[in-house]
Amino acid sequence: MSMIEVAASGDVKENELLTVKGGGTPLIVTRIAGKVQAFSSKCPHLGMSLARGTVKDGAVTCPWHGSRFDICTGQNLDWCNAFAGLPLPTWSHRLIAMGKKPAPLPVYEASEENGKVFVRLPG
Ligand code: FES
Repeated sequence: MSMIEVAASGDVKENELLTVKGGGTPLIVTRIAGKVQAFSSKCPHLGMSLARGTVKDGAVTCPWHGSRFDICTGQNLDWCNAFAGLPLPTWSHRLIAMGKKPAPLPVYEASEENGKVFVRLPG
């Protein structure tokens, strides 16, 4: 599939999450070390929105249950260790996971050209 324009370059800021639509698909774009990155706005755990997640050290943390993902690769770094931003004891993590196994965050190729941000979605 071809690259889809999703935002103006100036709207995509370092470590800030910008929710956009790419071909009808809700996405989040951000900038890590100066390079634009794009990923699914839905958390792989329960599909809830990552729009209010936090970004630190190139990773996004889900605001709902604390799962954390590398923004550049999608790799899962932590899985269901919090509730609404509050850390939970280790024994409760499996309860919070509700039977879901750790999964990666879908990430998409992103680039910039002429002041615009483009994302390539799977065909
Ligand atoms: S919905 Fe994101 S960790 Fe549960």
